[in-house]
Amino acid sequence: MRQRWVIGNWKMHGRRQQNAQLIHEIISVPLWPGLCVAVAPPAIYLQQVHELLIGSGVVLAAQMVSEYEQGAHTGQCAAGMLADMGVQLVLAGHSECRHAGQTDAQVALQVKRVLEQGMSVVLCVGETLEQHERGETLDVVRKQLEVIAGLGAEVANRLLLAYEPVWAIGTGRVASPGHAQWVHQALRSTLAKSLGEPWAMTPILYGGSVKADNAAELLSQLDVDGVLVGGASLKASEFLSLCRLAAQAR
Ligand code: PGA
Repeated sequence: MRQRWVIGNWKMHGRRQQNAQLIHEIISVPLWPGLCVAVAPPAIYLQQVHELLIGSGVVLAAQMVSEYEQGAHTGQCAAGMLADMGVQLVLAGHSECRHAGQTDAQVALQVKRVLEQGMSVVLCVGETLEQHERGETLDVVRKQLEVIAGLGAEVANRLLLAYEPVWAIGTGRVASPGHAQWVHQALRSTLAKSLGEPWAMTPILYGGSVKADNAAELLSQLDVDGVLVGGASLKASEFLSLCRLAAQAR
């Protein structure tokens, strides 16, 4: 059985008091068997959220990481620093970072740094609206997947993928369950073909305008192992509904 996940990406939202309230509500509910739950607050609140999560079983995630190990890189966080702060999971290649200029070469280094530090990584891939309309979806995501070529089987259990079509992120336009399944299945077979059998177990999450009222059908798809959630992760009741749906799906 592949591991199932719900990851909340808070993006640039939250203040100390709101964070405390949100975490308090999330951890007041017992964990669901077989489901991993993670939250990714802004870097400045990692320490606060780490302390709030102690003993809860909810995983602390970071939204981004530098491709450098240390040095004169103003404003950035190294993977070693994130690990030092109790982070267990890091997003890499989110489309909002790619849009700000991040390249596949940088994403490849970020993935490497995160894995070197013993953390897990969520590699985000997804096509823009123009690429989608030109029918280039699979070419684009397979190309983005190349950043993990050459990874050893010993890290296979610390990689997650998230298919996040750019046209679905924050737009309210969610991918159809059939489209998501089609892309997830292609990603899974590309992984197994290029890297080998252990990678067939890689959890592949869908992200982009996921909400409690559209998640059930997405989560029932054979190759959708969970969801990466932005807007709907900021409200505890909505986020908890998504966790319940993910735990019950399939
Ligand atoms: P959204 O964001 O759920 O607000 O569309 C998803 C993401 O960017 O991870």
